[in-house]
Amino acid sequence: MVKFPGNNKINLAIFISGRGTNFKSIFNFSKKKKSILNIKLVISDNKYAKGLEFSKKKKISTKVVKFVKKRDAENKILKLIKSNKIDLICLAGFMKILSENFLEKCNLKILNIHPSLLPKYKGLNTHMRVLKNKDKFSGCTVHLVNKNLDAGKIILQKKVRVNKNDTIKSLEKKILRMENKIYPLAIMKTVKSIF
Ligand code: GAR
Repeated sequence: MVKFPGNNKINLAIFISGRGTNFKSIFNFSKKKKSILNIKLVISDNKYAKGLEFSKKKKISTKVVKFVKKRDAENKILKLIKSNKIDLICLAGFMKILSENFLEKCNLKILNIHPSLLPKYKGLNTHMRVLKNKDKFSGCTVHLVNKNLDAGKIILQKKVRVNKNDTIKSLEKKILRMENKIYPLAIMKTVKSIF
């Protein structure tokens, strides 16, 4: 049985840096009948992020927080998280690494989606490394964020076959489609475990 906080909905904050397909997919899932998810806040470190157009269109409270000084940016975000009564943070293509200080002060579960079969290929350029190593499978992983990069507990992971003629682009496309499918499911799995 899932027990929900205050308003019967789980308030999500989505952090983005770019295109925002994972954000859109979480949004669409949150709008399904009987959904208990509510995207309360979108944060971007990049004012040109494509995903911001969607959040504005959907009239979601949206803030651009520049990471010129990391400590200042994170303090701003901590205030926003508090004032918006956020229950869970989802990093969706957010390309900044949050500090240990932020993780401690925030005291919420933070999810991240990564385009590889973690623990393989942490960090950037995952598809390029998969192709270089001639791996037969790649995929995507939703995991909890901890102080080590891409190393927190795995919540959900899905495999995708790598074909001989796959390129970085084709692999990225295939994996992104899978990411968009599993992120909302991983959120629900997490929500059920904490509320
Ligand atoms: C996704 O492929 C996500 O896995 C990746 O950025 C892309 C964002 O796409 N994240 C990372 O590499 C984090 N280390 P989106 O903006 O369309 O959701």
